[in-house]
Amino acid sequence: MKNNQLSGRIKWQSPSNIALIKYWGKKGFQIPYNPSLSMTLSEARTETELIFTPKSDNREISLTYLFGGLPQSEFEKKVKSLMELLLPEMPFLADYHLEFRSWNSFPHSSGIASSASAMSALVLCLCSMEKILSGEPIPPSYDADFFRRASRLARLGSGSASRSLYGGYVIWGKTHHVPDSSDEYAIPMYFEVHPEFEQVSDTILIISSREKKVSSRAGHELMLNHPFAEPRYWQAEKNLIRIIEVLQKGDWTEFARITENEALTLHALMMTSNPGYLLLHPNTLIAIEKIVAFRDSSHVPLTFTLDAGPNIHLLYPKSSVHKVLPFIQEELANLCENQQIIYDRTGSGPIQIFGP
Ligand code: PMV
Repeated sequence: MKNNQLSGRIKWQSPSNIALIKYWGKKGFQIPYNPSLSMTLSEARTETELIFTPKSDNREISLTYLFGGLPQSEFEKKVKSLMELLLPEMPFLADYHLEFRSWNSFPHSSGIASSASAMSALVLCLCSMEKILSGEPIPPSYDADFFRRASRLARLGSGSASRSLYGGYVIWGKTHHVPDSSDEYAIPMYFEVHPEFEQVSDTILIISSREKKVSSRAGHELMLNHPFAEPRYWQAEKNLIRIIEVLQKGDWTEFARITENEALTLHALMMTSNPGYLLLHPNTLIAIEKIVAFRDSSHVPLTFTLDAGPNIHLLYPKSSVHKVLPFIQEELANLCENQQIIYDRTGSGPIQIFGP
């Protein structure tokens, strides 16, 4: 590092993503048992500013993390653990006081997982800081190696964060069916997606914003002794290969079959863990029945997926918005907590707001 007395400011905006093929079960340092595929979102995102100032003692990580202008001690602890993991690779982190100021575009208590957008925004700031300190000339835009590295480092903070570094559809996890795929980092889609899937609407029904009874971390761990673990990993790989074909062909019927199969399997795995648990809400089930009935009667290719929680992501083509929105307002809004609904769609990936 050449310029270790520099102060600086960097700001990145990074999106959340929704997995269509789910990652559930991990080993070692956030290595997934199966490959996953996600769609990057556009509206649900985190903006993080990093202000770094040199400090005299360089033994320990020193940081503050403000979320929406307020201290966030829980997340600050997670960030500190991530920094400690990154220290061997980024030794300059101990030379500075790091102040992070973060903000989410979606309500904090909406039940939307923010770790993917938050961890990826944070790691992007650190990777930019490294570039500034290196003293090397910075090209007009960051190259593929920059994002690949950021994806690998974001993975250490949260597995799904590795996929937030790219727009559109993103694959994380090694499979010999996908060239250049890796367990260490995510890669952007390597083929041209059918126009039907270039812009997909994702309307998120906030059924409940209560904190989950069982964290994702605990859920991943329960996969270690799960009786259905092996068949699940096999199924995920099969669904991945199939959805890759579907995204190229533009086949909504098959897209709906796969995404719903993945969503229901994720929750079935939770229910059949030992001990088993349920993250669905009665209104999730009522909404699912209504969604399927609407699809059958209207022939609009409306489908759904679920995260590790009760909220529903409704996926549909942009061209069907005029039919789907009235249905959501009339039939589904009442099932949401305080009628909370987030209107999102396919997004194009992180943006640097300012920096080198
Ligand atoms: O990234 P984590 O450790 O929070 O796990 C995410 C797990 C799911 O959201 C349920 C699936 C996925 O692939 O994003």
